[in-house]
Amino acid sequence: MNKKATAIAHPNIALVKYWGKRDEALILPHQSSFSMTLAPLEVKATLAFGAERDEVRINGRPAQGSELTRVIALVERVRQTTPGLGPVRVVTQGNFPMSAGLASSAAAFAAIAVAIRAAAGLPKDARESSILARLGSGSASRSVEGGFCTWHRGQRADGADSFAEQIFPASHWPQLRMMAVVVSGEEKEVKSRDGMRGTVETSPYYPAWIQDAEAEVPRAIELVRRKDLEALGALCERNAWRMHATSMAADPPLCYLKPKTFQLIEAVAAERRKGLPVWFTLDAGPNPVLITLEEHLDACQRLAQQVGAENTVRCTPGGDARLVEEHLF
Ligand code: PMV
Repeated sequence: MNKKATAIAHPNIALVKYWGKRDEALILPHQSSFSMTLAPLEVKATLAFGAERDEVRINGRPAQGSELTRVIALVERVRQTTPGLGPVRVVTQGNFPMSAGLASSAAAFAAIAVAIRAAAGLPKDARESSILARLGSGSASRSVEGGFCTWHRGQRADGADSFAEQIFPASHWPQLRMMAVVVSGEEKEVKSRDGMRGTVETSPYYPAWIQDAEAEVPRAIELVRRKDLEALGALCERNAWRMHATSMAADPPLCYLKPKTFQLIEAVAAERRKGLPVWFTLDAGPNPVLITLEEHLDACQRLAQQVGAENTVRCTPGGDARLVEEHLF
């Protein structure tokens, strides 16, 4: 047994979003989702069993609250099946700031999941790593493999069939680009975990959301297969709108959008009418992610500047989470 391992994983952006859990503890979703892995953003995680006590450090500070509980939940699951591992030390380091507007938690939990299995002497297994990463955050299940991944909703109560799987590798569509545009660097008031719960429990639109999102996944896969940017862009926009509309219909209503979000969305539509192939998607926050091709990134950058964006981050399709020898401690 190695007892110590280091893995690197990329975050991902959902093209068809996950919004709402059917099981809060196991993080089981009500619907399937589909995403693209994002390079060059990455998080490295080093993990070693046999420490004096459990210790978790994230980006240079001790993990606290639900962050800590979730990392330990992943570790516990492996400790239960592999006796004798002992206390763990986990250190993660991202190469992108929180202010980049993209959550690093998906990449962090995917890297931790891959590293835990290696440190515990378990064989490389994308499905098991995805299930493990899912226990940290749902979207992390989609960061174990690169390229374009579907997180299958699954049917089982124990979550054994709720994992993400690569549908196309990053090399399938290397020209595709995502540009995260930070219009507001403020921390959001309602975390996705709480926003989802409120939406599931109170939005009258929620059943329609589940049905629609599930049906969009195979359509999105087909459009990526055909590299049909125009139809994929339209699908991503309507899926993002529907997620936000479902949340806005919750009680109390939940609105993540800010005036600058609308400004950018309008500017995107206006430029598109003039011929620029650009679309957007929007996670549970005010910062759109633009969808375009490599040769249009500079035009997208100008668009972001036009609405006074604080920052932009350019991403390409990324690869699988991987084990590396350079440890963080
Ligand atoms: O996995 P979480 O708890 O970070 O939730 C992710 C929710 C969205 O980003 C809004 C959608 C998604 O599928 O990534």
